Amino acid sequence: MLSRIRCAALAGLVLCLAACQNDQPPPALTASPEYRVATGTDPHSFAEFEKVRVSHLALDLDADLRARTLSGHVVLSLERPEPGFQRLVLDSRDLDIHDVNAIQPNGDYLPVSWRFGADHGHLGRPLVVVLPAGIEQVRIDYTTSPDAFGLQWLDGAQTSSGKPFMFSQSQPHYARTWVPLQDTPAVRYTFDATVRGPRDLMVVMGAAGNEFERNDTGEYRFHMPEPIPSYLMAIAVGDLVFAETGPRTGIYAEPQWIEAAAEEFDVLEEMVEIGENLYGPYRWGRYDLLVLPPSFPFGGMENPRLSYITPTIIAGDGSLLALVAHELAHSWSGNLVTNAAWRDLWLNEGFTVYFEARIMEALYGREVRDQLARLSWDGLMDTLATADERDLQLVRDLSERDPEQAFMRVPYDMGRFFLDWIEDRVGREVFDDFLRRYFDHFAFQSITSEDFRAYAEQHLVAAAPDLLSMAEIDEWLYEPGLPHIAAAIEPQSDAFVPVDEWREQWLAGERSLDSLPVEEWTVYQWLHFLAGLADQLDAGQMTAMDERFDLVGERNHEILFLWLMRSIEAQYSPGIERLETFLLEVGRNKFTQPLYAALAASEWGRDWAIEVYERARPGYHPLTRQASERALGL
Ligand code: BES
Ligand code: ZN
Repeated sequence: MLSRIRCAALAGLVLCLAACQNDQPPPALTASPEYRVATGTDPHSFAEFEKVRVSHLALDLDADLRARTLSGHVVLSLERPEPGFQRLVLDSRDLDIHDVNAIQPNGDYLPVSWRFGADHGHLGRPLVVVLPAGIEQVRIDYTTSPDAFGLQWLDGAQTSSGKPFMFSQSQPHYARTWVPLQDTPAVRYTFDATVRGPRDLMVVMGAAGNEFERNDTGEYRFHMPEPIPSYLMAIAVGDLVFAETGPRTGIYAEPQWIEAAAEEFDVLEEMVEIGENLYGPYRWGRYDLLVLPPSFPFGGMENPRLSYITPTIIAGDGSLLALVAHELAHSWSGNLVTNAAWRDLWLNEGFTVYFEARIMEALYGREVRDQLARLSWDGLMDTLATADERDLQLVRDLSERDPEQAFMRVPYDMGRFFLDWIEDRVGREVFDDFLRRYFDHFAFQSITSEDFRAYAEQHLVAAAPDLLSMAEIDEWLYEPGLPHIAAAIEPQSDAFVPVDEWREQWLAGERSLDSLPVEEWTVYQWLHFLAGLADQLDAGQMTAMDERFDLVGERNHEILFLWLMRSIEAQYSPGIERLETFLLEVGRNKFTQPLYAALAASEWGRDWAIEVYERARPGYHPLTRQASERALGL
């Protein structure tokens, strides 16, 4: 295959001889550490990126939807801050490596020694490559496993188009299951890609170059001119069509979803403009959305230039658009200024929840913002009351843990309330100005919480020491739970006060369902109403509510989800029937995990839930399988 390999011409090179003549690793390899612990400054990556750093990838892949593999090669371009350091360590998990070659400055290939280090479970195995002096490019030929954790493969029976579909989910550390690379948010690189798929499907990536129509060659080319961290690498293959929502924005979806999606997301262009007005220019060219099959394990994923979105937010009335605002906001917080490691996740998600609220406020007004804030506060209070003490800090030590564990309400909602608090202390104008400068200053960099702290000290606290102090900021960052001295601002929403009263009155038999003014309720008021009914209803009350509101037939998945939770609590049969079809279709973890957990906790529901899960499992993403099995105690 590699006709350009010229091993013999370099017979003088010990490394090459070792590689060509036997499988024994050369000295540089045997001397390498055992990688029992990760070696870089990111505990979740084996990459020694201080010594050798990937700066560009060139991917050439074939997507085989029958075999469920990506195969081909990647050329890694390297910077070598320590030129004498003769080892390149990459992250990999379940990859079948066929061949590793150094590319010499004259373009010739030089086979080099490589080996896998020990298997570290979810962290995968370090791929250790001997790096001769002067080499700045390495080519790796490989094939992914059909069980690659970062990819989901669906066959035609599992999609709405009847054609197969494949998509990646790389965050936090699954890019290594489909590309051998330095899988840490601390390293950023640009990339090019050529991907071939079946001719009746279209390939898209989180990159420039997505086509607006399927071409007839099956080959697609992409280019990512802005440096990104590996967790933002994204690819998808499916029966996709495109609908424009503005000059810079549009939607990709299977044909069955496209019309409803384009209508639901028609504010996309305006949202980008709002984002720019708030935090400075949108620096990624286009902003498109890819609507995934309902098995997508998240609500959304901020893949640059092409965010991935669950179809479960297509409610018909735009009521769940906060999630789109969220993924768009990541174009600044996260994609532009990235957390250096997963301990600093709040810099990504906390900032993004704050910005999401600002975009929603600009679009729909203060009242909507307050309702959303209150829901987020109530959720945070639940977490603070139940979670382990060591998980309650904004900046958390995750070194011994799966980075999945980083994603809980604390970095999201407590991070957001921290920024609300700063805004309240210094005033919105000052804070907005600070944020715009922060994004400019750290654009396309990966930073730690301590970098943020130092920047805030210099640009906020120094200018206004009477308004806020470093002691307060440190309490927010490093102490568990909400701070005591720097009292957080509890959001209030007038809209929820009457809802609480109506709920109490109805439960006490003092008010009929007919007299509830639901026609005027926002979706957030509905969610607040239903959340407050947890563990309160019997099957008779559920029936009465369904007769009046038809909640089992609800299209809004957030409302439906709460109704299904109430159905489990009340053992309400029509709800349980709906739950079965829901679990067989939807793989969004935010819904499936608590539903399975509630069933598992009930005396009657566990065996039934396991039986439903076994049927649903083939259509679930690996992440949904993992979370569901944990919830069910399997
Ligand atoms: N970056 C996350 C998605 C994610 C979460 C990836 C956990 C890996 C692990 C995305 O931006 C996100 O936060 N999505 C939320 C929606 C948001 C509105 C809170 C989701 O998917 O529910
Ligand atoms: Zn997010």
